[in-house]
Amino acid sequence: MQGPVAILLAAGHGKRMKSSRAKVLHEVCGRPMIHYVVDAARGAGAKTIIVVVGFGADQVREALRDEPDVLFATQERQLGTGDAVRACRELLGDYEGPAFVLVGDEPLLRPGPLADLLARQQDDGAACLMGTAVVPDPTGFGRILRDTAGHFLRIIEQRDCRPEEARINEVNPSCYVFELPGLWEALERLDTGNAQGEYYLTDAPTLLQDMGRKVVALAVLEPDDILGVNTRQHLSQAHAIMQSRIHDRLMTDGVSIVDPRSTYIDGRVTIGEDTVIYPFSVLNGNIVIGRNCRVGPFAHLRDGTVLSDGVTVGAFVETVRSSLETGTSVRHLAYLGDAQVGAGVNVGAGAVTANFNGTDKNPTVIGDRAQIGAGAVLVAPSKVGPGAVIGAGAVVTKGEVAAESTVVGVPARTIKRT
Ligand code: UD1
Ligand code: CA
Repeated sequence: MQGPVAILLAAGHGKRMKSSRAKVLHEVCGRPMIHYVVDAARGAGAKTIIVVVGFGADQVREALRDEPDVLFATQERQLGTGDAVRACRELLGDYEGPAFVLVGDEPLLRPGPLADLLARQQDDGAACLMGTAVVPDPTGFGRILRDTAGHFLRIIEQRDCRPEEARINEVNPSCYVFELPGLWEALERLDTGNAQGEYYLTDAPTLLQDMGRKVVALAVLEPDDILGVNTRQHLSQAHAIMQSRIHDRLMTDGVSIVDPRSTYIDGRVTIGEDTVIYPFSVLNGNIVIGRNCRVGPFAHLRDGTVLSDGVTVGAFVETVRSSLETGTSVRHLAYLGDAQVGAGVNVGAGAVTANFNGTDKNPTVIGDRAQIGAGAVLVAPSKVGPGAVIGAGAVVTKGEVAAESTVVGVPARTIKRT
């Protein structure tokens, strides 16, 4: 087993989400939460990632099946976070070294602070190093109890807190680095003497300390990084923070977003310099946008959209699984699905590719410099040659329009160019 390892807890149901889906599969900016945590662990240096699955195990495995460094451990019954970590013991065999333990419902964790925690744990030779955070509102989190000298004493779950403990605003975000095999010894000593009758991972640091091992709690995490998603309200808060990080990254890279508040951009979207995104646009899915493009207002770009440099996609235009080459312009009210559009093409207002015949999706290919008239319908599969002109309102049903020709009418027929 190659270390450092990361154990991600994701077996719980997330009852408060009121969902048939496993909690960690709920999406933040277009991606299931667990993906962000996997990325953060990997970015912090984890070489092997073990995801503990239980409720909705098959769904979670499926969502992560393309991640080569991710393994799965099954927790048969959800007996608590400590029990969940124990479920990894067999898989980890006699691995010795550091292991992150993180929870799958904190999608805003970033790799940088996690890497710092690992470095500190190694420097300190700590059996357990915990990142903690001081937050304005500690509701829902375990609280960090320290002695008067500031040394870590224990974590108290909210439900087990006395009123004065509940006022502590240093909290446990479940970001630990444990040294193995020491952690296994501590986990063997867990009991269920708490308000929930569960095996709490949060008891492990104190047990290690009682065994004479070094335990350190460092308040180095930011409140935004540790937002835990337990409800749909939390999900929307996580979404808002993630969305502003995405906007920020794109703007730093030279993209203008005129009104970030009304612009939805999925985390998988890449955009080139000097492109301007106008208000009320939705960019959802794997999308690549070149330089100097204009998108929106009110554009809906969906999965598989690729815009080369200098493309305009304007108001009430929807695109999906479509590529548009350099300088092409689709200004208003158009739908392009499964379309491959050349360079310098103009698609008029209201033109659509009719890509779905009720059973199958079919492709449309439009050559360079073609002009698609207002309100034209291209019934797919269809191929419009370079330089062809499709008259306003024409319905192309014949599949192929010759290069440099002009077609008009319903169904479209070729006429002589004047
Ligand atoms: C836990 C911590 C708490 C911390 C908070 C936020 C414990 C006992 N409490 O509480 O101190 O402030 O997270 O980080 O650890 N899970 C399993 N198997 C189980 C139970 C949970 O895999 O049997 C997984 C869940 O899927 C979830 C994660 O562990 O991803 C945390 O569980 P959750 O129920 O959300 O714990 P909290 O009550 O938030
Ligand atoms: Ca939680």
